[in-house]
Amino acid sequence: MSEHNRIPQHIAIIMDGNGRWAEKHGKERYEGHAAGLEPVRTSLRSCVKWGVKYLTLYTFSTENWGRPQKEVDSIMELFCQSVISETPELKQQGVRVRMIGDRSRFSQKVQHYLAQMEEETAHGENLTLIMALNYSSRDEIRRAVSRIADDARKGILTPEAIDEQTISQYLDTAEYPDPDFIIRTSGECRLSNFLLWQASYAEMYFPEVLWPDFTAEDFDRAIEVYQQRDRRFGLVK
Ligand code: IPE
Ligand code: IPE
Ligand code: MG
Repeated sequence: MSEHNRIPQHIAIIMDGNGRWAEKHGKERYEGHAAGLEPVRTSLRSCVKWGVKYLTLYTFSTENWGRPQKEVDSIMELFCQSVISETPELKQQGVRVRMIGDRSRFSQKVQHYLAQMEEETAHGENLTLIMALNYSSRDEIRRAVSRIADDARKGILTPEAIDEQTISQYLDTAEYPDPDFIIRTSGECRLSNFLLWQASYAEMYFPEVLWPDFTAEDFDRAIEVYQQRDRRFGLVK
């Protein structure tokens, strides 16, 4: 495939702007989150269409627990409902769902629903959907360092043997390639503690559109933007 029609193997999206969308439409914040489900469906279909193999969605950050309890509760309820409503289509499209983040903080009910979704979609071969849940990059790195230290203490690892690959292997994303392309909607230009290690050479794109308004055309436009980028990885072409 030529440079100009290459497709990112892994896209990561910071789905931002649900609250502002709700405010703009005179609705409650939770309605903004509910409206964010349709662009998730659309993006999954687009990934399958374009042949993108991994899609990571920043769904709930470790910092998001600090939001009003009512909003947090409604987001948890939305996770559970989505498992029920979306799993059949995910299976049909060959989407395998995985998670990154520390899920132990979720209620038993939410953990049960999430595990069920992973189990039921385990055989999907077209696309891996990675949901970042109770995720933040610093927390992920902290957990990785703690396990590395533990393995060093047990003699499984020697300090001299720790290279970049070792660190990658202890992160939640060990099984997945680094993201090629990070999209953040709503016009904010920051990573907000998302994939800091993995994003080293990712291309980034910050469209103004609020997440609930993100359409298949916006997705296609993002692919076009990616295709115009010149990735050099520190080298000379
Ligand atoms: C992103 O939308 C969804 C989550 C963080 C769960 P926001 O809720 O952050 O929307 P804004 O940024 O307030 O508009
Ligand atoms: C990042 O968005 C987290 C998710 C999209 C899940 P936030 O809205 O929480 O981030 P800040 O507060 O604008 O940095
Ligand atoms: Mg936000």
